[in-house]
Amino acid sequence: MAPRLALPLLCLTLLGPGGALACPPLCKCYPRRAEVVCAEVPLTQFPSEGLPANTTLLTIQYTNISAISEHHLSAAPLLEGLHLYSNHLRSLSPDVLRGVPRLHTLDLTGNLLADLPADVFRHAPLTTLVLKNNLMEEAKAEWFPDDSSLTWLDLSGNRLAGVPAALLRKLPHLESLDLSHNRLEKIQARSLDPLIKLERLNLQRNKLVSLDPALFHHTANITNLYLTDNRLDKLPPSLFRGLGKLRVLGLEDNQLRHFPPGLLDPLSSLDEEGLDLTGNPWLCDRKVEYLWRWLQKNKGKAFLAETIRCAAPLPLAGRSLPSLSEGELNLES
Ligand SMILES: *[C@@H]1O[C@H](CO)[C@@H](O)[C@H](O)[C@H]1NC(C)=O
Ligand SMILES: *[C@@H]1O[C@H](CO)[C@@H](O)[C@H](O)[C@H]1NC(C)=O
Ligand SMILES: *[C@@H]1O[C@H](CO)[C@@H](O)[C@H](O)[C@H]1NC(C)=O
Repeated sequence: MAPRLALPLLCLTLLGPGGALACPPLCKCYPRRAEVVCAEVPLTQFPSEGLPANTTLLTIQYTNISAISEHHLSAAPLLEGLHLYSNHLRSLSPDVLRGVPRLHTLDLTGNLLADLPADVFRHAPLTTLVLKNNLMEEAKAEWFPDDSSLTWLDLSGNRLAGVPAALLRKLPHLESLDLSHNRLEKIQARSLDPLIKLERLNLQRNKLVSLDPALFHHTANITNLYLTDNRLDKLPPSLFRGLGKLRVLGLEDNQLRHFPPGLLDPLSSLDEEGLDLTGNPWLCDRKVEYLWRWLQKNKGKAFLAETIRCAAPLPLAGRSLPSLSEGELNLES
């Protein structure tokens, strides 16, 4: 086996001065997994010194490092996963990933990044990128190469007011997109069309007021869609057309009063309790008939169905919608 032949050489280069296996001060090294972890220690600089050259997985979390450069990472050219959770990173240099041509996972959660340089993700074949809980006001197409292989992108917990269509066009392999906990007011019409492999889309906790009627018409692979905690007060009748694979749909905590007839009909694959409609001010007049009948017919599909309550009209306020009779809804005529 080839690794056996290579062993003496690796030992020579990786043994520290006293013959001990090299490992950066304050870090833990797991040689068999080629993994290094520096967690909750008072590091203020990237731990270059003593970093084993065969490191493939490096975790630096809850430290005070504020910068990371191409020079730092070139000490671990075989790196595949880099987790930089909760440090003090404020910026990345444009070439930071140039020396790590195998890097597929980069997690920058919980830093102080407000912007990134153009082409920053061009050098590595990233499939998973997490930029959660930073300070970004914009996501830019120029960060990514045209042929990006990303399947997982998490931009949640930033200050994004929008996502450029040009950025999504560069990410045709995306399977999971998390834009929750931002300030999105609108998703541009057609901007999701290139994401034909998308399975999970999280738009929870934004400021969406309305959605384009054809927004999801090309994303037929979506199984999980979270629209929870926005300001949606109406949904277009054809919004869910084509979403026959959808299993989980979160619509709770919006301003929905009515559903247009037919809205939920395309959703033939919903999980038990897969649809959450709670926390909306349903108006239980005659126009609630479609939703009321859907809930009768699809018992068990709605999460905590008995807590889907009428906000109005006054005589029905606070009543559970599925428990109302035809008479109470004035449906008999
Ligand atoms: C990485 O190098 C160290 C030091 O020579 C060695 O003990 C370890 O087995 C290597 N790990 C892998 C996964 O190759
Ligand atoms: C790390 O930063 C925290 C606060 O941001 C500070 O209290 C602490 O002293 C710093 N530690 C070191 C080793 O610099
Ligand atoms: C679903 O994704 C597969 C690849 O995973 C793709 O080939 C197919 O075209 C997609 N389906 C639709 C309806 O877009």
